[in-house]
Amino acid sequence: MRMYDLIMKKRDGHVMEDEEIKYIVDGFVSGEIPDYQMSAFLMAIFYKGMNDHEILTLTTAMAESGDMVDLSPIEGIKVDKHSTGGVGDKTTLIVAPIVAANGVKVAKMSGRGLGHTGGTVDKLESIPGYRTDLNEHEFFDVVRKTGISVIGQSGNLTPADKKMYALRDVTATVDSIPLIASSIMSKKIAAGSDCILLDVKVGSGAFMKEVDDAVRLAEVMVALGENAGRKTRAMITDMDTPLGNAIGNSLEVIEAVNTLKGKGPEDLTHECIGLAANMMVLAGLGDEKHCEELARKVIDDGSALERLIAMVDAQGGDSSVIKDTEYFTKAKYTHDVISDTDGYVTDMDAAGCGIASSMLGAGRETLESEIDYAAGIILKKKTGDAVSKGDVLATLYADDEALFAAAERRYKEAVKISGSRKERNPLIYALVSKDGVKRF
Ligand code: URA
Repeated sequence: MRMYDLIMKKRDGHVMEDEEIKYIVDGFVSGEIPDYQMSAFLMAIFYKGMNDHEILTLTTAMAESGDMVDLSPIEGIKVDKHSTGGVGDKTTLIVAPIVAANGVKVAKMSGRGLGHTGGTVDKLESIPGYRTDLNEHEFFDVVRKTGISVIGQSGNLTPADKKMYALRDVTATVDSIPLIASSIMSKKIAAGSDCILLDVKVGSGAFMKEVDDAVRLAEVMVALGENAGRKTRAMITDMDTPLGNAIGNSLEVIEAVNTLKGKGPEDLTHECIGLAANMMVLAGLGDEKHCEELARKVIDDGSALERLIAMVDAQGGDSSVIKDTEYFTKAKYTHDVISDTDGYVTDMDAAGCGIASSMLGAGRETLESEIDYAAGIILKKKTGDAVSKGDVLATLYADDEALFAAAERRYKEAVKISGSRKERNPLIYALVSKDGVKRF
C-alpha cells in the first residue's frame, strides 16, 4: 500500500477499506507515515467525511493502538463520562461522587485543559498533594476502596489519538465529526468501563456550534460505544454561556464542593443532576426520574461529598481544603469588572470568557505552560440578568496585577449588554441513546 494513493483515494471522496485505515493508523503510530502525509489525510477526511463503517474501523484501530484497560478485577458496574470540553465545566467533580455514593463505580481517566477549555486533571491538581499519576494497581485500589478514582490518562493509552490530536490541533482539522468521534470513543473504549455517558457541548465555547451537528456527533459516538459492547448515552448540553459561575482551577473545585453541599449555582446543579441520573440509568439503577431522586438524596445527606473527600484522601490530597474551602491558597489580587452601561446581558461568548481566564494564568497555551491554580474569574452576571451601570459583572483573580487590564478587555469583548432582555438558551437540548433522539 502507498500512503500517496490512500490520500488521493480519500481526497477524491472514495470509501476506504478496513485494511487501508488500519495501515494508516499503525504506520502513523510507528513513525513510518510522516506528519505531512497524515496531515493531508486528516484534511481529506475533514472535507470528504467518512461513512459509519469507516469511522468504526478508524476508532477500533485507534483504540487498539495502545493499552486496553481491563477493569474486570474491580467488582461491580463501572461507568465513565466524557465531556467534549467547555468553559467552567466542573461536572466530573460533582457527578462522579454522586454516582459513587449510589454504589456505581467510577474509574476515570481525564485530560488537561488546552486553549480556552479547562481540564479535570488540572482542577484536581489544585488540591495540594493530589496525585493524578497513579499506576494501574493504585488506581484499581482507590476505586475498590472509595468507589471512585479520577486520574490522568495513562502513558500508553491510544497513542494514535495522542499523535493525531497534536497534528489536528495545528492543522485546523479538530472540528470534524469523524475525527472527534473516533478520538473520543477510542479513548473511552480503551479505558474499559461498562457504560459511557457523553456530554456533547454545543455553542460558542464548544467545537459544535449548532444543535443538529451536536446531535449527529452524539449519534455517531453512541453507535460506536454500543458496537463495542458498552452501554452508551449522550446528552446535548449548552456551552453558549460558561457553566456555573467559576472559571479557573481551585475556584471551580470550590464551586463543585458547594454544589455537593446543595449550595451550587442553579444551572450547574440542574445539569449535574441530569448527567448523574443518566449515568445511573446506564448502570441499571432505574428510570431517569428515580435516578434524579437518587442523585438529590446523596447531595442532601452529604454522602456524595464524603465520596469526594475519600477519593482526595486516597490519592494523597489534603482533604482539609475540601472540608473547608477557605484553606485553598488564594490569588494575591482581585479586580472587579464594572459595567459602564444599563441593560441586560444578552450574550456571553464562552470561549472568550475562557480565554480571559487563561490570560490571568488559569489556562495554558501549550501543554508545557505552567498554570496558576488560584487564578480565574467569578461571574457575577450571566445571560438573561439585568445590569445597572456600576454593577460588578465579574471578579478577576490573579497573582500579578499587570494581567488584569488585558484580561478585562477580553472579558468585556465576550459579554454583550443591550436594552432588551434575552432568555438564556436551554441547558439540556437532547438525549441520544440507542433508541433514538429525545429533544427537550
Ligand atoms: N475531545 C477529544 O478528546 N478529542 C477531540 O477530537 C475533541 C474533543
